[in-house]
Amino acid sequence: MRRRTAILISGRGSNMDALIAAASTPEFPAEIALVASNRPEAAGLARAKSLGIAVAAVDHKIYAGREEFERSLQIVLAAHRIELLCLAGFMRLLTPWFVEQWRGRMLNIHPALLPSYRGLHTHRRALADGVKIHGCTVHFVVPEMDEGPIVAQAAVPVLDRDTEETLAARVLEQEHLIYPRALRLVAAGALRVEGNRVLGAASGAAAALAVPACD
Ligand code: GAR
Repeated sequence: MRRRTAILISGRGSNMDALIAAASTPEFPAEIALVASNRPEAAGLARAKSLGIAVAAVDHKIYAGREEFERSLQIVLAAHRIELLCLAGFMRLLTPWFVEQWRGRMLNIHPALLPSYRGLHTHRRALADGVKIHGCTVHFVVPEMDEGPIVAQAAVPVLDRDTEETLAARVLEQEHLIYPRALRLVAAGALRVEGNRVLGAASGAAAALAVPACD
């Protein structure tokens, strides 16, 4: 059985596109059963709809607080019998209550090599620090922002001529590769978590989850 997966977005949705494309082959162990957004105007939402995927907008602005918003979202996810959640450019902090509902079943992609550069403006900060290697991370979500067991990472070089935009584009290309790989392994049950470490339950899984820097 393919795991029923929802993607949560707030905007553009290019990682959403990559996940939908990967899951469009029948042997992929997850099916994208829903795309939901806290922003009704999110570009990705209209695109998902045009692809025939169920969509939902749960506008956070009409709720009194975070948990009220999340309780509505949770009802939508339950109605679609969602088993796995992928945050893909979902720009809302989640309460411990919501995170607990999805412990071990919710992934996030972050545009930096965690635990470096949690939070926003990761590319700008990496350039300002002069680091030579940057990248992206897929991790299980825990209540602390941008923490949680790391499922996959990809590294890219930082070049002398880089601007925030060129570096972001190089990282994004890798995001689109590692997120589907990570979802495939999680949905297939090919990984186990020991403390903060995500290990391959089968040989080969771990090798698929580290992408070295290349020029
Ligand atoms: C991606 O770069 C993703 O890593 C980042 O937002 C972008 C969304 O792009 N996420 C975060 O910064 C979360 N803290 P997309 O909508 O085209 O996938």
